Amino acid sequence: MERTLSIVKPDGVSKNLIGEVIKRFEQNGLRVVALKMVKLSKTQAEGFYAVHKDKPFFQSLTDFMSSGPCVVMVLEGKDAISKVREIMGATDPKKAETGTIRRDFAQNIERNIVHGSDSKESASFEISYFFNALEIHERREE
Ligand code: CDP
Ligand code: MG
Repeated sequence: MERTLSIVKPDGVSKNLIGEVIKRFEQNGLRVVALKMVKLSKTQAEGFYAVHKDKPFFQSLTDFMSSGPCVVMVLEGKDAISKVREIMGATDPKKAETGTIRRDFAQNIERNIVHGSDSKESASFEISYFFNALEIHERREE
């Protein structure tokens, strides 16, 4: 079992896609073990995306991520990290596979609806960025 962090980004929330995103994760066997809505400050968005601080898109990305509420969640399942990345699709929606969230809904490479951790190390950092141990719940398998 593996855990990963996903975010419905501000564009996904404004487009009313919270349920659609969660539905796709659940239909692929992932279980939500923590969930909340947060409005990030600019500084909090910068902290979350600190690995990208030297990238040309950093300012614009962190403005976007702090522009409205996000829904953040921890998902659990077999190979959860790679499974979520597969369901999301490539960063650039034009390059994303048919049937992925980004291909179906994203406007452009920045406003791409959803985030998913890209490694065990980033999952661990990102989960603890938003949730403490008491906010992450054991789930019984059905
Ligand atoms: O989210 P993902 O892991 O697929 O991509 P990333 O390379 O870790 O970049 C993080 C986020 O920065 C992306 O999801 C986009 O919102 C944004 N980005 C951007 O605005 N322009 C780029 N050329 C690359 C990423
Ligand atoms: Mg990434």
